[in-house]
Amino acid sequence: MLVLMGPPGVGKGTQAARLEAALGLPQVSTGALLRAARRDGSALGVEAAKFMDAGNLVPDEVVVALISRRLAESDAQAGAILDGFPRTVSQAESLDSMLKAKNRSVDRALLLTVDETAVIDRILGRRTCMQCNSVFHIRSKPPRVAGTCDACGSELISRKDDNEEAIRTRLATYRASTEPVVGFYRSHGVLREVDGGQTVDKVFEGLQGALNH
Ligand code: AP5
Ligand code: MG
Repeated sequence: MLVLMGPPGVGKGTQAARLEAALGLPQVSTGALLRAARRDGSALGVEAAKFMDAGNLVPDEVVVALISRRLAESDAQAGAILDGFPRTVSQAESLDSMLKAKNRSVDRALLLTVDETAVIDRILGRRTCMQCNSVFHIRSKPPRVAGTCDACGSELISRKDDNEEAIRTRLATYRASTEPVVGFYRSHGVLREVDGGQTVDKVFEGLQGALNH
């Protein structure tokens, strides 16, 4: 099982999609699962939206239940690339117990780092496809047709939490709740750091190198 970590906007979704294609393991993004639940109008999605729009974390028990169901699906039996989970030490402990029950473990936790000013520009310029989760940027990765997803032709939007106020809260939440997870994986010997401030291709090379060391 691979865990892809890092602050909002660092490039987790972008790199998880590339790793999915390279490794043949599914990308499992809790953010995308929660946004899909909201789009479907489920009670869980509506409840989660209140936390997400403000940039706060959705309660642990909600995301742990969501990820547990997702990891029980057939395509995740050989492993998965977790994008945005775990985000608290309690979630990391729940993941360990879930995996232990199947005689598995987290093989690598890959941490992407970047400075905060860069992530704000990345997030404000991001355009996301809510159908297939493809991610674009108005300058660094513009879609072929403005406002339309290259992959599936659906409309591209700015996420509700992609405004400066929510981004500041997301960064503060990352520092307070998710940075301790970095220490958790470091102490387990599985953490590897990659500079997420480089080009998408260079970051991808760094991640592939980190998987082998
Ligand atoms: P989530 O959807 O996971 O959002 P996030 O962690 O804030 O991260 P982002 O998706 O914003 O950024 P990213 O790192 O994926 O970057 P991307 O590749 O898109 O979570 C959203 C919310 O859901 C949370 O706030 C919380 O409320 C809830 N939630 C989710 N998981 C949870 C959990 N486990 N527990 C509790 N609550 C949870 O890239 C960003 C932009 O930069 C794009 O435009 C991209 O094109 C561009 N870009 C990417 N890489 C580069 C590069 N190398 N150079 C230049 N531009 C780049
Ligand atoms: Mg993402």
